[in-house]
Amino acid sequence: MNTKRKTILSIFGTRPEAIKMAPLVKALEAEPEIRSVVCVTGQHRSMLQQVLDLFEITPHHDLAVMSENQSLNGLTSRLIASIDDVITKEQPDRVLVHGDTTTATAGALAAFHRQVPVAHVEAGLRTGDMKSPWPEEMNRRFVDVVSDLMFVPTSRSRANLAMETLHGRAFVTGNTVIDALQSATKRIDSQDALRRALDARFPFLDASKHLVLVTGHRRESFGRGLRDICAALVRLARRSDVQIVYPVHLNPNVRATVISALGGAPNVFLIEPQDYLGFVRLLQRATLVLTDSGGVQEEAPSLGKPVLVMRDVTERPEAIDAGTAVLVGTHSDAIAATVHLLLDDTNARAAFARNVNPYGDGRASARIVAALAGRPFEEFKPVTPRSKDVARVMREAFA
Ligand code: UD1
Ligand code: UDP
Repeated sequence: MNTKRKTILSIFGTRPEAIKMAPLVKALEAEPEIRSVVCVTGQHRSMLQQVLDLFEITPHHDLAVMSENQSLNGLTSRLIASIDDVITKEQPDRVLVHGDTTTATAGALAAFHRQVPVAHVEAGLRTGDMKSPWPEEMNRRFVDVVSDLMFVPTSRSRANLAMETLHGRAFVTGNTVIDALQSATKRIDSQDALRRALDARFPFLDASKHLVLVTGHRRESFGRGLRDICAALVRLARRSDVQIVYPVHLNPNVRATVISALGGAPNVFLIEPQDYLGFVRLLQRATLVLTDSGGVQEEAPSLGKPVLVMRDVTERPEAIDAGTAVLVGTHSDAIAATVHLLLDDTNARAAFARNVNPYGDGRASARIVAALAGRPFEEFKPVTPRSKDVARVMREAFA
């Protein structure tokens, strides 16, 4: 055994973290300079397991902290205590956390208390509004404060960090979600039997109709925001040329509202959270995507799908600048009007539907591993011409 190998402890626990850490874990496992140790917190149970199975990741530690409708403080305290045990046992040279979840915050704080250096994957995202997304804006700011290495997806995220007094160094790597997406689309596109099996999960889909794919789960939208989103979907579902598919997040607060507002609505198909390949296949088949999810905002542009972001602010402005996303908020009139516009006007839709990759090129994990192993690498530079088309189309449509 090479005794000089650095031990890197990757800590993650929710679905999006697992999707975005999976390619990085694979790259760490293949790196001779590194001993990779994986700790899943189980902040999510079944949605996390779907991802571990797909990417064939067997964690060294599984903390199983999830409880039904968990409170943020209950979850945080369970996380810190159990992550501390793992850090004490593994004595890592560095801890890696991802993004802006409670797992990331607890992992970073537990490492900081044990004086273990922290690297933050997907650092530097900001809305500037501590209430939106809540509590994620606080989480990512906190993790950046304690990190000495910050792997930022875009130069814009690096510019956000440059405005704060931080001690860490930032590297522009691209987002690892594009690594995960490329590996999924490669499998789906190259394996006919797999594609047919995925399509067979959705026998109700009619290829002659527009598929509108929806996800929505943000805490700041619980209550009125989510009810308004559902009201817009009920109106849109009256169109005979549309089918709405909504994989409903397992958070009971989301399920209660969505199922009571949309259960039984014609043309609205509420389905269980899909494993990653199933969801990517739905993305491929969609005409447009309505979402408040961070990851979906990053994936859809890469597949050339117009995205309507059902939030008031976003920490991912790059797709809006590139002209494949628009911020529609959560008011049902605005959501319905924008969807009608895009479905009725092929020119408007064409203005959005451009394949751009503002968030990555599929090599983010390789760059992060190079940085961790102390090797030089070229930073990610997106080629995304700024588009004025979408702004013009929206101005003209709503003048
Ligand atoms: C969490 C993250 C959010 C991220 C989202 C991605 C925090 C504070 N929030 O929100 O940033 O965007 O994950 O999905 O870290 N549940 C299950 N099984 C699962 C997953 C969830 O039953 O596999 C249910 C449980 O009742 C759980 C609840 O969902 O208590 C909420 O999970 P939690 O991780 O606290 O919050 P999310 O809303 O999922
Ligand atoms: N996703 C999935 N199955 C689904 C819905 C989403 O695998 O049924 C994927 C999606 O492709 C994206 C990630 O989950 O990569 C986003 O996770 P989520 O919306 O839970 O969290 P966020 O990105 O908002 O933090």
